[in-house]
Amino acid sequence: MKSYLNQLKEATQYINEKITIKPTLGLVLGSGLGDLSDEITEKVEINYSDIPHFPVPTVKGHDGKLVCGILQGKKVIAMKGRFHYYEGYDLEKSVFGIRVMKLLGINKVIITNAAGGVNLDFEEGMLMIITDHIGLFAPSTLRGENLEEFGPRFPDMTFAYDKEFIKIANNHVNDINIPVKKGVYAFYRGPNFETPSEIKALRILGTDAVGMSTVPEVIAANHASMRVLGISCITNMAAGVEQKKLTHQEVMDTTTRVKSDFIKFVKNIIGEL
Ligand code: HPA
Repeated sequence: MKSYLNQLKEATQYINEKITIKPTLGLVLGSGLGDLSDEITEKVEINYSDIPHFPVPTVKGHDGKLVCGILQGKKVIAMKGRFHYYEGYDLEKSVFGIRVMKLLGINKVIITNAAGGVNLDFEEGMLMIITDHIGLFAPSTLRGENLEEFGPRFPDMTFAYDKEFIKIANNHVNDINIPVKKGVYAFYRGPNFETPSEIKALRILGTDAVGMSTVPEVIAANHASMRVLGISCITNMAAGVEQKKLTHQEVMDTTTRVKSDFIKFVKNIIGEL
């Protein structure tokens, strides 16, 4: 079998042969935000399944394609559909797309997700600009042999979420009709939702929102010296906050309800990155 690095290089070469512009900004479109890719013009779409070695997502609401073109005057490539730890991918495979972006020459990335609100001041349907994360409860995506081509063995995570990007995003909070707060995102392995006691524990640790993605990607992006902006859509209050069960349907219903504001927010930010 080809080495992981060679797989990344082959995938990158395949994409480079298809795309007509050289993207400078990467987008990882989480649940519900996939429609943002419809607004990309001069676009070239590539199915993940056609790209050598590229993984294919298994979750409802997660398409599987790269969309490359122009958005808000910027050259972008969007991952419509991502790879979650809970789907069972090897850690390395789950961040394949981020590393391919790096090999395409991209150094800035916007990573979005759906998340549960842990902060009791939050409400369903708002957005959260991620200021930091807690990823203590799952192995790092950098576990195993270090890929020196991307970054050092022990990468710093002090500024995992780019301070200037957070400031730019913060300047746009009044552009939309839903509240936008800032906060800390905690990674949960999934696929089951958390228990109420796990949510209480996460709250004590300083968590504002919890989800099953993003952190592995942000670690790989930081390792590769990529600047990251992370934005969560609070699709539900986390387990135990309200006396009701959580469902994936609720997550999808909320993303559908707020997606036009979410898309507008991200588009306005892209114009300035
Ligand atoms: N927990 C974990 N992941 C999630 C949630 C949640 O409550 N909502 C959306 N993704």
